[in-house]
Amino acid sequence: MAYIIGIDVGTSGTKTAIFNEKGQAVASSIKEYPLLTPHPGWTEQNPEDWWQATVGSLHECLSSGKIDKNEIKGIGLSGQMHGSVFLDKDRNVVRPAILWNDSRTAEECAEITQKVGEKRLHELTCNPALTGFTAPKVVWLKNKEPENFNKTATLLLPKDYVRYRLTGELAAEVSDGAGTLLFNVPKRTWCPEVLEALGIPESWMPPMYESTDIIGSVTKKVADETGLAAGTPVVGGGADNTCGATGTGVVVEGRVLSSLGTSGVVFAPCNRVRVDPKGRVHTFCHSVPNRWYLMGVVLSAGMSLRWYRDVVAGDERRIAESEGIDPYDVLTRLADQAPVGAEGLIFLPYLTGERTPHKDPHARGGFIGLTIRHKREHLIRALLEGVTFAMRDSLEIVREQQVAIDEIRATGGGAKSAFWRQLQADIYGTEICIINSDEGPALGAAIMAGVGAGIWNSIPEACDAIIKVISRTAPNEERHKQYEDYYQVYHSLYPPIQQSCHALTKLVS
Ligand code: XUL
Repeated sequence: MAYIIGIDVGTSGTKTAIFNEKGQAVASSIKEYPLLTPHPGWTEQNPEDWWQATVGSLHECLSSGKIDKNEIKGIGLSGQMHGSVFLDKDRNVVRPAILWNDSRTAEECAEITQKVGEKRLHELTCNPALTGFTAPKVVWLKNKEPENFNKTATLLLPKDYVRYRLTGELAAEVSDGAGTLLFNVPKRTWCPEVLEALGIPESWMPPMYESTDIIGSVTKKVADETGLAAGTPVVGGGADNTCGATGTGVVVEGRVLSSLGTSGVVFAPCNRVRVDPKGRVHTFCHSVPNRWYLMGVVLSAGMSLRWYRDVVAGDERRIAESEGIDPYDVLTRLADQAPVGAEGLIFLPYLTGERTPHKDPHARGGFIGLTIRHKREHLIRALLEGVTFAMRDSLEIVREQQVAIDEIRATGGGAKSAFWRQLQADIYGTEICIINSDEGPALGAAIMAGVGAGIWNSIPEACDAIIKVISRTAPNEERHKQYEDYYQVYHSLYPPIQQSCHALTKLVS
């Protein structure tokens, strides 16, 4: 039997899973690490923590899986996008990595747009400068910590740092490279013009590969530490979003992913480069060669529900405890008791600002339309509807770019709840499919390893072999019609209050 390993270097922890050739997980392990927030709006992590979590989870998987290490044919890495790892000339970490959800770089985004030119930046990188991306973090280092900037000799993305520790190779791959804003997305290479305009030495950028290319192999030292065989091949792997899409078979145009986790992601593959001229959705490289994708991001999707559970839903938590069930099940049961549109109540889910469609870190959330008749069931239904309307905003922008949406595959917490699956079908007006695996990015990364090792010829071939649709939820036509009207109101609500939200943010800061 041949096995493949996927390692997903996430924001809360690293998940390692070993899969057989049928894509079934035979062992998996998650090791968590802290998120550092040295100032409000800053998020950082120590790359050493990622490495220790990788070693720990590999070790646990290999000892619990009882697998012959020589049967492991390859390792793929998936990682949180956009993070910046700065290494000095001796390959030591210069300072903690600055992460995708860090918002310190508003000024640097303006500087990048001014130096490269808005139009040119869009032509080359296919995206606007957003605080989450990598380039603003490097410019921040140059402006605010020049001594660290001067020490830096290499810039890596989070999973590529783990690859360096596994194999000794400094390397990058296209799907993560695309999220740096230092990358020519149509050409799938680093972008010398942007690097030069920002004063970032080209020598900092490691060689660039495609996701299924074999880049290196496990060193003897790491083999001794983890239980892997020395020489096990390590492929490029991908950004967590392309690995998640690959792990659900969303690798061809027409198949779209609706992922409702902490954040919400709409991921739509396309056969050629498509760019939203307003920059509301991102255009990045898929892990499938010659394929790209459009992605909309709702920053507080499941996060909104979690906020409600923790801050508002004390009674529901107590009911859940007495019935021995998950508080989220009590919440969705309650939501089901309220009518479509929650009697005119709409929730804006911008609890941590919003990316798509507003590109506004200062956007703020709210319930609009409250009356004295509204009860808890209306509040929770409006919240779930509001998050789903936010996802619909991304789907509409994808449609505007003439990218087909024939089938929507749902993953994350939003896919586990029957109520939320139906809500998605009703609000999107499209059938919602569930697949036979919820291993997500780790499976996607392992598939890339399997293709690199020759188990499959291509990512789509691997996905066809192992990923199957196991359930379909059709939209209810009547509810869909009702939701069309509510969606139009939802969509119109934020622009007129945008300036007031900014004023509120200023008052608080
Ligand atoms: C994508 C993004 C997030 C991170 C989370 O643009 O910022 O999805 O990749 O891991």
